[in-house]
Formats: sequence, structure tokens, C-alpha cells
Amino acid sequence: PADLIHLFNGIPFTTRSSVELLRSLDRFQAREDDLLLVSYPKSGTHWLAEIMKHLYLSKVALTSPMELGDISKLDELNNMIAKRIIPTHLSYDMLPRDFKEKKCKVIYIIRNPKDTAVSLYHYYRDNPNLPTIEAWSTYLHMFLHGEVVCGSWFDHVLSWEEHKNETGALFLHYESMKKDPFQSVRRICTYLGINLHENEIHEICKKTSFSEMKNSVEKENSDPNQTVCALTSSKKLVFRKGTVGEWKHYFTNKQNRLFDEMYNRKMHSSSLAKNLHYEN
Ligand code: A3P
Repeated sequence: PADLIHLFNGIPFTTRSSVELLRSLDRFQAREDDLLLVSYPKSGTHWLAEIMKHLYLSKVALTSPMELGDISKLDELNNMIAKRIIPTHLSYDMLPRDFKEKKCKVIYIIRNPKDTAVSLYHYYRDNPNLPTIEAWSTYLHMFLHGEVVCGSWFDHVLSWEEHKNETGALFLHYESMKKDPFQSVRRICTYLGINLHENEIHEICKKTSFSEMKNSVEKENSDPNQTVCALTSSKKLVFRKGTVGEWKHYFTNKQNRLFDEMYNRKMHSSSLAKNLHYEN
């Protein structure tokens, strides 16, 4: 049904992000120690958030996404006492100004857009908060043209990359995290000024592996409603495959060519995209 999605600033949001909240985001008061976890949907947001929980243990509040909910969200976040870790799918342009002024730390997680597209495709199919999608080919066209929730993957990445000097953001690649989780967690620690022993880092990598996270959500050790992504109501939908390169089973040669054309056109000046393990 059409009422699951509305356009704000030309970007499709689910109606669980109220217009009033979206319009008021710029009034939000940031704190210097806020930490933002930024991603385009299906890039590994929950994985990154889980790592954060282990890094900080109980000393922080991992909030629900900045843009999820109604206007009461502003007060809710305002009333939190602990250091806030705030996930968001907002593009740089929509991020509340005060985060930029207070120079809050930002971690941006990026994933091969082909795998991201496949992951979001399944999410569309399984998630009652998103409209029904018919065929993969129809959906892929929508993805390429930014007609899916949170808009264009390309624009999202570029908006954050363009401002990487101002934000000083740490960019993490999903594929690198898969390949070498230890090194990735160590980079996060360095960025955040957290000192951990090697054994502790290994322990965190183990606890945040795909299988561990999937098992624990199925055993309902954690609250499935506590999600860090503004699109879903149940975390159980998130842990699907957690692999690199699944797109190869979905893209036809022609779709792959069209995708590459768009990619090269949009991302030619992006150094992030060059580092992306795009061919995987
Ligand atoms: P797939 O649909 O390809 O399996 P997000 O958290 O941003 O919604 O992203 C969800 C994607 O990240 C899903 O991809 C999910 O399986 C994957 N994921 C979640 N936890 C993971 C982990 N610990 N390691 C690797 N991938 C993970």
C-alpha cells in the first residue's frame, strides 16, 4: 500500500518516520560525545552497532535511529543521560546541523552496492513495513534510480564522502570487516580512543560474528524490537546470509552492465568506491 512510504526532500521514507520529525531534525541538540553510526540500509548497521555495544559495555545508550518515530523522538533522545550512540540512515544533507557544529564522531559503514541491493530486495519482500515488490528486475531499476527507501545508494555515499574532511568520519567497508574483523575492530578502537587488549578484540570479533548474532536473535536473548535500522520492526529479519558476492546469483549480464555504467558515471571521482571491493 502507498501509505507505507512518503517522500521528504524528494527521498522516500517509511511513514514510521513522521513528517513532523523529519522537518524538526535540524532543531536537534547534539552533544560533543555523541557518536553517529551512519549507513545506507543493509550495509551492516546491526553488525557495527553490536560491535559498539561490546566496546562500551553498559556505559552507553544505543538509541533507535535518529529519523525513526514521531516528534517525541527529540525529547526522548534529549532525556538520555548516558553517552549516546545514534544510528541513522540520513544522508549528510539531512543530518541535524548541530552534529556538524559539535564535530561529533561519525562511523560510516559501506557495502558493495550490488550486495546491498540484493539484501534490500529481500528486506522489501519480508518486511511488512515496506511495500510489496514484484520482480527483481523492477526492483533493481528502482534501486538504481533512488526510488527505494532512503533514496539513491550513490547519492548517500557521495554526500558523506564529500564532507569527509569536515566530519573526520571513519569509513568502514563491510567486505574488509568480513575479511579481517580483528583489524576492523582495532581501527574502530583507534578512532574512538579505546584501549583494548588483543584478546579482548578477538573476543568481540567472536561475539559479533554473523552466526553468533543470528543465533542470539533466534534464541531471543535480545529484544527483537530493538533495531538500529529505521525500516524494520523485528531484528529477526536482519540476519539473512551475511556473505560477500551474493549478487552474482541475481544479476543478469545485462543488469550487471547497466549497474556498472551507472556506478562508473556516478562514482568516478569517489576514492571510497575505489577501495570498495567492488569486484568481489
Ligand atoms: P544479507 O541480507 O546480505 O544477509 P543492516 O544491519 O544494515 O540492516 O544490514 C543487514 C545485512 O548485514 C544483512 O545482509 C545481514 O545478514 C548482514 N549482517 C548482519 N550481521 C552481520 C554480521 N555479524 N556479519 C556479517 N554480516 C552481517
